[in-house]
Amino acid sequence: MATDRTPSGRPAPRGRPPRNRRRRRQRRFPPFALAIIAIALVVGIVALIARGGDEPVASTAASEPVIPAVSEADIAAAASQLGPRDQELVNIGQTGVSINKAGGSRKYVALTFDDGPGPDTPAVLAELKKLNVPATFFVIGANIKENPDIFRQVLADGHEVGVHTWNHKDMTTLPAKEQQAEIESTAGEIISVGGVASRLFRAPYGSVDPAVLKQAEKAKLLSVLWDVDTVDWTRPSADQIVQTAVSQAQPGSIILLHDGGGDRASTIAAVPRIVKELRAKGYEFSTVGDLVISDPPGADDMSSDSRSTQQ
Ligand code: NI
Repeated sequence: MATDRTPSGRPAPRGRPPRNRRRRRQRRFPPFALAIIAIALVVGIVALIARGGDEPVASTAASEPVIPAVSEADIAAAASQLGPRDQELVNIGQTGVSINKAGGSRKYVALTFDDGPGPDTPAVLAELKKLNVPATFFVIGANIKENPDIFRQVLADGHEVGVHTWNHKDMTTLPAKEQQAEIESTAGEIISVGGVASRLFRAPYGSVDPAVLKQAEKAKLLSVLWDVDTVDWTRPSADQIVQTAVSQAQPGSIILLHDGGGDRASTIAAVPRIVKELRAKGYEFSTVGDLVISDPPGADDMSSDSRSTQQ
């Protein structure tokens, strides 16, 4: 735990001059008073740390600073669900890289939605259902806990899900133990709420380094980034989102969109237009897992670097 950490700028409560200590000793209940001061300090520090770690992008996740432990049973369940398809995905991810797109031999693309499940997710699901398009949702663990029914609807509609961590922090800034907790807790929540094991991982902000990729490998997750960034989180118009997605898509593209982290009205409006325009150009749609298994990424489609800043 981080309760022994002192935020910069705040002096630690030790090293008082001897005269102060002597005066304290003369009071009637000095240990009691000291205990209250200590408790108040700890509470204050914890509050500061919790607030400092919040990301405005994932407002629902931000209110959930506690990462639950994953039970042995959940981990065992995940391991037992590693079927042949899972193994193929895991094998692609065992090389210290993220995939940015599939190989490009088939005219398929994958739509991906990050930062849910949240209030705008049902509208995204409704559009995808009308269009009969499967997609991939990279979910935040805290948001699954808050919106379990929406999360189950994502799965019931036949979409694929991937781990987008519990708190949406920049994983490259965390110690190994916290990186592991961010991944395992979310993978465990996916299993306990949705009944399926995810084999995909997307780092918040696309921020990865060898240590983060190692953690994904340990959890048997394939790290997935993207090659088309619609930057829909900056709230462009639906026209701009459509224009970016359609003009940049190529065979095997993984297209980044968001169903959480704020008002997604432009994204919701853009989805049917992206699908219709790409279909008119001869593209079909697939989940990330099916895309990369049917059209494996080549060396140029993978990287060990961070992708860019995003939500
Ligand atoms: Ni995100």
